[in-house]
Amino acid sequence: MAILLTGGAGKTSIRVASLLQDAKVPFLLASRRGQAAAPEGMPAVKFDWLNPSSYDDPFKYRFPEQEKISAVYLISPEIPDPPPPMNAFIDLAVEKHQVKRFVLLAGNSVEKGSHHVGKVWQHLVDIGVEYCVVRATWFMERMSEQEHLTTIKNEDKFYTACGDGKAPFISAIDIAAVAFHALTDKAPQHCDYRLLGPELLSYDEIGVKLSNGLGRKIEHVRLSAEDNVQRYIEAGFPEQYAALLTRLETMTAQGTEERMNSDVEKVTGRPPITFDDWVQLHKSAWR
Ligand SMILES: NC(=O)c1ccc[n+]([C@@H]2O[C@H](COP(=O)([O-])OP(=O)(O)OC[C@H]3O[C@@H](n4cnc5c(N)ncnc54)[C@H](OP(=O)(O)O)[C@@H]3O)[C@@H](O)[C@H]2O)c1
Repeated sequence: MAILLTGGAGKTSIRVASLLQDAKVPFLLASRRGQAAAPEGMPAVKFDWLNPSSYDDPFKYRFPEQEKISAVYLISPEIPDPPPPMNAFIDLAVEKHQVKRFVLLAGNSVEKGSHHVGKVWQHLVDIGVEYCVVRATWFMERMSEQEHLTTIKNEDKFYTACGDGKAPFISAIDIAAVAFHALTDKAPQHCDYRLLGPELLSYDEIGVKLSNGLGRKIEHVRLSAEDNVQRYIEAGFPEQYAALLTRLETMTAQGTEERMNSDVEKVTGRPPITFDDWVQLHKSAWR
C-alpha cells in the first residue's frame, strides 16, 4: 500500500504526510511545484490538475519496496469547475493503475452531486470505488497560514464579511487525522464525515481568543460583502476566488455553519483541538 497526496505541501496534505511518515506508510506528495514545495525527507512529484499529461507521473514513482499507489487524497485546484479534471484523473487512476480508494476534502456546503466537488463525490459513487468525503467547516489555519495571517501580523486586525455568524472552527490537524484513518483503515470505506471543531465561535470571539493567546489586542473588522471582495482582490486573490470566499462568509453571517457533531472524535478517538489550545501551538506564526 502507498498513498498519493494531491494538494502537495498544502495545509492538510502535509499533515497527513507526517502521520503517514510516523506510521511508516509510504506516500507521495503531488503538486505543481513537486519536490520544490516539499519538506526535506518527504518524496514529491510534479502534478498539475490542469495538465492531463502529468496524471501518469505519480504512478511512475518507484517506492522503496515497489509498493503500488492504492489510495489517493483529493484536494481540488482553485478553479471554478474542478470536477472535469478531477474525474478524468480518478478514471485514469482506477482504470490504468488499479487505485482502490479515494478520500475527498470538501467544503461544508457541498452535497453529493451538487456544485463544485459534489460532482466528484457523485462520480466516486457512480464508478463504485471505495471513498470517504470529509467536509470541513472554516479552518483555524485561515488565521495562521491563509487570508488573515498578513493583516494580523502587520495591523493586529483581520477583516471578514461573517458579521456575527458563528462557526465550529476546525484545525487542519484534525482534518488530517480523519483523512489518515480514511486512507489507511483496513475496513472498506464508504463514508461521509462533517469535520467540525469543538465550539461555535464568532469572528469577534476569535479576535478575543487571539488577543488573550498572543498578549496583544487583535481586532475583527466587519466588512460589507462588496468591501470584502475588494479587499481580497487588493490582497492578490483572483476575482472569482475573492467572490467565492465572500459568498461563503456572508452565508456564515446568516448562520449556515452553526452546527455541532462528534465525527472527529468518532474517527480518531479524541475530541478536536480547541481554538485556545491551537493558538498556543501556533504562536510563532504571528510574530
Ligand atoms: N480554508 C478553509 O477554511 C476551508 C474550509 C473547507 C474546505 N476547504 C477546502 O480545502 C481545500 C484546500 O486544502 P488545503 O487547505 O489542505 O490545501 P492548500 O493549503 O490550499 O494547498 C493546496 C495545494 O494544492 C496545490 N495546487 C494548487 N493548484 C494546483 C493544480 N492546478 N495542480 C496541482 N496542485 C495544485 C498547491 O501546491 P503547488 O503550488 O505546488 O501546486 C497548494 O499548495 C480546498 O478544496 C478548499 O475548498 C478549505
